[in-house]
Amino acid sequence: MKAAEIIESLYRNHDASREELRWLIENRNEDVSQRLFELASAAARAHFGNKIYVRGLIEMTNYCRNDCYYCGIRRGNAAAQRYRLTKEDIMRCCESGYGLGFRTFVLQGGEDMYYTDDIMADIIGAIRSAYPDCAITLSLGEKTRESYQRLYDAGADRYLLRHETATPEHYAKLHPAELSLANRIECLRSLKEIGYQVGCGSMVGSPYQTLDNVVEDLLFIKGFAPQMVGMGPFIPHHETPFADKRAGTAELTLFLLAIVRLMNPKVLLPATTALGTIEDNGRELGVLAGCNVVMPNLSPLNVRRKYMLYDNKISTGDEAAEARASLERRMRAIGYEVVTERGDYRD
Ligand code: 5AD
Repeated sequence: MKAAEIIESLYRNHDASREELRWLIENRNEDVSQRLFELASAAARAHFGNKIYVRGLIEMTNYCRNDCYYCGIRRGNAAAQRYRLTKEDIMRCCESGYGLGFRTFVLQGGEDMYYTDDIMADIIGAIRSAYPDCAITLSLGEKTRESYQRLYDAGADRYLLRHETATPEHYAKLHPAELSLANRIECLRSLKEIGYQVGCGSMVGSPYQTLDNVVEDLLFIKGFAPQMVGMGPFIPHHETPFADKRAGTAELTLFLLAIVRLMNPKVLLPATTALGTIEDNGRELGVLAGCNVVMPNLSPLNVRRKYMLYDNKISTGDEAAEARASLERRMRAIGYEVVTERGDYRD
């Protein structure tokens, strides 16, 4: 059977041709998925054992200068209630997160010009000196190389910047003309050169996405060789131009996550909040398909509902940082253990 051979070769060689990937995705079925998940989770276990790493997500601002058609915090959404966390707010999030066993803090936000490099460097420096044993991950969008360098020098270790889609024409259907895939990729390259552990990634089932686009994403990720990959389903937000578009499926998302694991065996791969939003046991299913990271929400409770990238985003259930005990229970039930280690990428 052709599918079995492609999956076997993904497992052994961490690679497949464009045609093979296309064929495998097009001809997927339950048996094929089952075999793929088996080998993807085996590949993850070979490097990470049964460990699941956790990252505390701090959503620091929902102001954004960009107007991405899919995103609920786009500047054009006049209905969004905007907020910004202060340095003190952020330090309190870290304090409670540290107590809950988090050793990575992810500062995520829209591209909010209020946070100048000076302000960000001050916040990062404060976290760095208060928590020398913790990793600091930034997810703050596109900046100049100089800014990325400045924040790295202040103590940041990792940077998440999804490429969103690796096909320029598709990128142009998801973003206004002032944003380009070329600039995204330039940012990703700068981040890597500076020395960050870098995460790229894409949305699954975003509007106008074709099978070829999905394959391009997989090949781009393989070529870029990131330390982390963020990949979750597109989910519409009612106050965006894509309000009436269909959501991506958990089924295709899991299939692609498993391929990402096999092509990039050592990558840190979260089971995303978006996956947990469209599927009840999304995070467990993600782990069983090769994911090895979860990113519970550490943001202050009063802002969580405001960081709405898409409709119905979960924020106060089991994905919340306070629900660590429940997360541990759920992971243990499928044979995995939530650990406190920083979980850095290792070659
Ligand atoms: N559905 C799913 N993911 C989304 N993101 C933004 N809007 C949506 C949406 N409607 C993702 C993007 C971005 C990350 C922070 O959230 O991929 O990079």
